[in-house]
Amino acid sequence: PWSAARAAELIEQYRSQAGPCLPILHALQEEFGHVPSEAVPMVAEALNLSRAEVHGVVSFYHEFRRTPPGRHVLKLCRAEACQSVGTDRLAAEVKAHFGIGFHETTADGKLTLEPVFCLGNCACGPAAMLDDRVLGRVDLKKIEQHLARHVA
Ligand code: FES
Repeated sequence: PWSAARAAELIEQYRSQAGPCLPILHALQEEFGHVPSEAVPMVAEALNLSRAEVHGVVSFYHEFRRTPPGRHVLKLCRAEACQSVGTDRLAAEVKAHFGIGFHETTADGKLTLEPVFCLGNCACGPAAMLDDRVLGRVDLKKIEQHLARHVA
């Protein structure tokens, strides 16, 4: 849960290092699962930036989430080796099936979809990662099976 005191601690921990903005945002995301909008003015103030500047950084880097993730996160590899074995089509099927785009979460809060650039599983593309499990040669059916089998 959000804690302004905890956010302040994290900001304090990194603010004196060089280039503190990204490390602070990473620390906040690690702690809260996303970068809470309440933290943005705190970061802005600590670093002498405007809120718009901090918002700009959060939206520029896609790895930062502005809303809490779903209970499960599916990452689809978008890198070249997987592209060549049909990851584009897979991504389109997954998006249509779950009704979400990249960086979005299903309405029931179950699944968040993220792109990822190489999972080191190139020989077994299309590759994906469901929570902390790397999957190879995935198709929509396999993703659904894993969700049903391993995921509450
Ligand atoms: Fe997809 Fe390496 S390119 S896992």
